[in-house]
Amino acid sequence: ADVAERTLAIVGELKGLEGPLLPILHEIQDEFGYVPEECLPVIARELNLSRAEVYGVVTFYHDFRNHPAGRHVLKLCRAEACQSMGGDRLAERAKALLGIDFHETTPDGAVTLEPVYCLGLCSCSPSAMLDGEVRGRVDDAELEALVAEARR
Ligand code: FES
Repeated sequence: ADVAERTLAIVGELKGLEGPLLPILHEIQDEFGYVPEECLPVIARELNLSRAEVYGVVTFYHDFRNHPAGRHVLKLCRAEACQSMGGDRLAERAKALLGIDFHETTPDGAVTLEPVYCLGLCSCSPSAMLDGEVRGRVDDAELEALVAEARR
């Protein structure tokens, strides 16, 4: 179905919730794999918000992406516990291996690299998630294996 139509249906379903904006955005991302720009005016209108307000929320939360993801999504934890266990270095290594920055997708469309802020695996930091599956104690070898897996 067309984006505006699906958006309208999702908003209709969820706008009765208290604080409906985040659940609506999550549902839209589940549906399309990202939050298409053209959803924003529809959401704003239906919830009586300004476009700037909706846009602000989309950009504030790191969960939402504004472009389609690659076939695989590799997330690296950027929160404190993981930082203290070499998260920065790991992130640099991942960027170098993939040749992209956070929020980017490899040119072949295989892998999108995204930051995430705590995966609840702090005791096994640094942690990562590949396509929804969490991994703890990610060292260089593990990272290389993850990247190779994502590239397949
Ligand atoms: Fe990384 Fe909690 S800080 S999993």
